[in-house]
Amino acid sequence: MSTPQHTMGQSHPHESAHAQVAGSAHYIDDLPEVKGTLHAAPILSPVAHGRLHGVDCTAALQMPGVRAVVLAEDVPGDKLLAAFAHDEPVFALDAVHHVGQVMGLVVADTALQARRAARAVRPDITPLPAILTIEQALAAHSRVLPPVTVRRGQPEAALASAPHRLQGTLEVGGQEHFYLEGQIAYALPLEQGQWHIHASTQHPGEVQHWVAHALGIASHAVRVECRRMGGGFGGKETQAGHLAVWAALAAHQTGQPVKLRLDRDDDFVVTGKRHPFAYRWDVGFDDTGRILGLQLHMAANCGFSADLSGPVCDRAVFHADNAYFLENVVIESHRCRTHLQSHTAFRGFGGPQGVIAIETILGDIARALGRDALDVRLANLYGTTERNVTHYQMPVEDNILHELLPKLELSAQYRRRQEAVFAWNAASPVLKRGLAITPVKFGISFTATLFNQAGALVHVYTDGSVQVNHGGTEMGQGLHTKVAQIVADELGVPLARVRVTASDTSKVPNASATAASSGTDLNGRAAQYAARNVRDNLASFVCGLDGCGAGAIRFEGGQVISPKKARRFDDVVKEAYANRIQLWSDGFYRTPKIHYDKTTLTGRPFYYFAYGAACTEVVLDTLTGENRVLAVDILHDVGHSINPAIDIGQIEGGFVQGMGWLTTEQLVWNEQGQLATHAPSTYKIPATGDIPAHFTVELWPEANREDNVGGSKAVGEPPFMLAISVYEALRNAVAAARGDAGTEPVRLTAPATAENLLRALGVLG
Ligand code: MTE
Ligand code: MOS
Repeated sequence: MSTPQHTMGQSHPHESAHAQVAGSAHYIDDLPEVKGTLHAAPILSPVAHGRLHGVDCTAALQMPGVRAVVLAEDVPGDKLLAAFAHDEPVFALDAVHHVGQVMGLVVADTALQARRAARAVRPDITPLPAILTIEQALAAHSRVLPPVTVRRGQPEAALASAPHRLQGTLEVGGQEHFYLEGQIAYALPLEQGQWHIHASTQHPGEVQHWVAHALGIASHAVRVECRRMGGGFGGKETQAGHLAVWAALAAHQTGQPVKLRLDRDDDFVVTGKRHPFAYRWDVGFDDTGRILGLQLHMAANCGFSADLSGPVCDRAVFHADNAYFLENVVIESHRCRTHLQSHTAFRGFGGPQGVIAIETILGDIARALGRDALDVRLANLYGTTERNVTHYQMPVEDNILHELLPKLELSAQYRRRQEAVFAWNAASPVLKRGLAITPVKFGISFTATLFNQAGALVHVYTDGSVQVNHGGTEMGQGLHTKVAQIVADELGVPLARVRVTASDTSKVPNASATAASSGTDLNGRAAQYAARNVRDNLASFVCGLDGCGAGAIRFEGGQVISPKKARRFDDVVKEAYANRIQLWSDGFYRTPKIHYDKTTLTGRPFYYFAYGAACTEVVLDTLTGENRVLAVDILHDVGHSINPAIDIGQIEGGFVQGMGWLTTEQLVWNEQGQLATHAPSTYKIPATGDIPAHFTVELWPEANREDNVGGSKAVGEPPFMLAISVYEALRNAVAAARGDAGTEPVRLTAPATAENLLRALGVLG
């Protein structure tokens, strides 16, 4: 595929890498402030649930620098955010629904003045009983959306006749996004009722829509721009819209530009996180560990509003099979309403919460039978010609795990190391090791079919330099770099000739969120088509000069080559301009083949699957619960990589972020519904010292079997789920420590903190 003339397939540095390291890459808080800029701070609810009678702002308004207070009654447009289910107030109306719910804003000359004054606002609230846990919500039938059931075959009969049967429960915690750049928006009122909004958002189009909705104006009056985010991870898919709406309302009220930058603690307390889940299952299986029947009950803690909980929980249902054929299965998915932050998208978007359930079940099945867990996993894999239809009726046509898993098993020396771990554990009374391989199969496409479309603009200037704009956003994942590579190859110019500019709703309209890992699939293709249009214009122009067919022209190495003559790309551009040839174009792409019925959750929601597997070894101190990830080997499928350096970075980063979710990142809400872990002092994300000393990543060499840009596959989210191998390795270490035959299920609540490990070991109540 890759010749020296192609940039695709080669490792190029991230387009912002140098600027980021040098400190010259702008984030919103780095933009020069316009004269008269004011700063806003949120007024937060101190109680989890209550009737709101009003707020007393007298003291706050007298504080230094304070210019205004903005409340629900000041919203000129709709007082509800234009969210999915239209169930979230812009500012609390007559009730509060979680600690940290935003009741209004204080606007002041400086951010510090605004924050101090926000604390001086006195709300008048009558507290009401709050629902905080999944258990309480299930008992009270408190839900944001109705439950969904997906069923295939005869699970009850299969369970009744199965030779072996196991029941279990599992609780898996949420996760704070902990983007390095916190949530921020900067709203600038322009002339004639027009607005310019700088937002750190994965979805500028939705921010535009929400701001217009709240201000009661048309979308054409709002331009939203985002050059880059300092991380999003799903946390800036909808949550960024709230910030932008609040900043715009404050600017509307004061007539001045307003910046709203959440302090880290407020960011934790105000915004939603990954959904915590609780599970109950009943599984029947044969002597080889093959699952015959499964009943799975999943419940998500959605927080106080629907936000994206519907599609997140749907994706959990779609991934409850992970890589395994479930012939007789019923999955019940509950979407619980609680008085907490409204939980939202987070890398994997419910997928990880589906995958961890089945991997836990398989780990316990292997233990119950005294069989090797990898053998049990292999026995359950989707087949290639039979046993290959998912529980939502989609045939799995591109399964490569039958080759990928054995390849990793060999390269990571799984069998030999498993023996070594047994020997080591036999000799080591306190420290116990665990080793596990888990695969991932992750569906690529937005399950909401309409979002699978994208647009782009490619401008070739008369000097031959190229500017690209597309509907996607850059959050560190390298989307702009990959899109520039795609365009450079299409035009046959060096990568340095191509620049991708800030995401901007006034350039490419109605763009979907950059999410579901499909940023490159969608926007890369749209940009490729736009570049192709310009190339076609140039090709026919050259054909006119040389008297050949358009197909005979090649664009390579900065040259345009016809059978008669090779010309410099820059010269052709100049000449074409002089001959009034269009040097810019749009491009549009929509994903083919996908369709699905939202009510029954059946069809083909995904264009293709991305695959991978990880082999992880851990060591656990059974006296303290402390543990380390010692070694990780990953074999992951990105199709033909557009940029191996960036893809490997995504795989490493995704894995480590998943490791954080399952080991140290613990969200603790106290009985008042206050989030007790709201800063790095109490919430621990992985640090450099947690990176395993042995950490290898290999890319699967085969191209995407579906026609996707450059033969590539999406990479942003799938590797996150490879970290479930850490959790499985820890459960194996716990089993090794227990002294029984090791056949009992290991109940380990995630994250596997030291305390939860000690509980799993039975030494802590
Ligand atoms: N990588 C970095 N560095 N920062 C991020 O915020 N977000 C992840 C993933 N990788 C993220 C990241 C999530 S949640 C998604 S959906 C994808 O990137 C989105 O980008 P893509 O579709 O271009 O892969
Ligand atoms: Mo990613 S959770 O789809 O933004």
